[in-house]
Amino acid sequence: MQPRVDELSALKPRERLIVALDAPDVGEARRLVERIGEGAVFYKIGMELAYAGGLKLAPELASAGKQVFLDLKLHDIPNTVERATAQAAKLGARFLTVHAYPQTMRAAVAGAKGSGMRILAVTVLTSYDDADLFEACGRFGVVETVRRRAEQALALGVDGLVASAAEAAMVRRTVGDDMLLVTPGIRPAGAPAGDQKRVATPAEAILSGADYLVVGRPVTQASDPRAAAEAVVTEIAGALT
Ligand code: C5P
Repeated sequence: MQPRVDELSALKPRERLIVALDAPDVGEARRLVERIGEGAVFYKIGMELAYAGGLKLAPELASAGKQVFLDLKLHDIPNTVERATAQAAKLGARFLTVHAYPQTMRAAVAGAKGSGMRILAVTVLTSYDDADLFEACGRFGVVETVRRRAEQALALGVDGLVASAAEAAMVRRTVGDDMLLVTPGIRPAGAPAGDQKRVATPAEAILSGADYLVVGRPVTQASDPRAAAEAVVTEIAGALT
């Protein structure tokens, strides 16, 4: 695992913004990247786009000098996760997500070995609150689950965690300084929450210890996506100083 401090020391505020390219097809995703232009340098390809043929965008974006986050949230038997991770690494991605289950995290770390691609574990989806977790598992709430999964990820050599800003400070205390913390559920003040239940503004997320912010609809559905991205970058820069 490369130390987080080395990773972040040279990072500009713009490099901390990851725009979620949640588009229905590759053409629309390409148009979004064009409209955002220099406004963003890091893009997330999630399941919607991946299943619409969007994986081919990963090497395309990488060769255009952009960073790529493959948000595929892998979770399967270890053999499959390890081999799928090794395939994902060949696409030139910088980050790949897996669900934070020990078998899955162990296999992904093995599959990414030597590739330079970082494994991020998704602790609890930001659309989940305590009631959703109780409904699913009947026992622990969000904070306990996130803490336990963060401890396990650290022990297994995972590079970073995906968690909401509401848990970011607790996660940072739990795992110390060496893991990257990536925070979705970001909503600039006044933006609609949509299906996200644990939201924070860009500044709140940075101040709670997030390293990278994932922003989807507030940028991609803005009338001027580039200006919306710029506004998030300005807020990140303000929170960092
Ligand atoms: O549009 P919005 O800003 O809500 O998009 C958030 C993005 O982050 C989506 O692509 C979603 O899949 C992703 N994500 C999330 N919560 C997680 C992990 C990823 O919302 N825990």
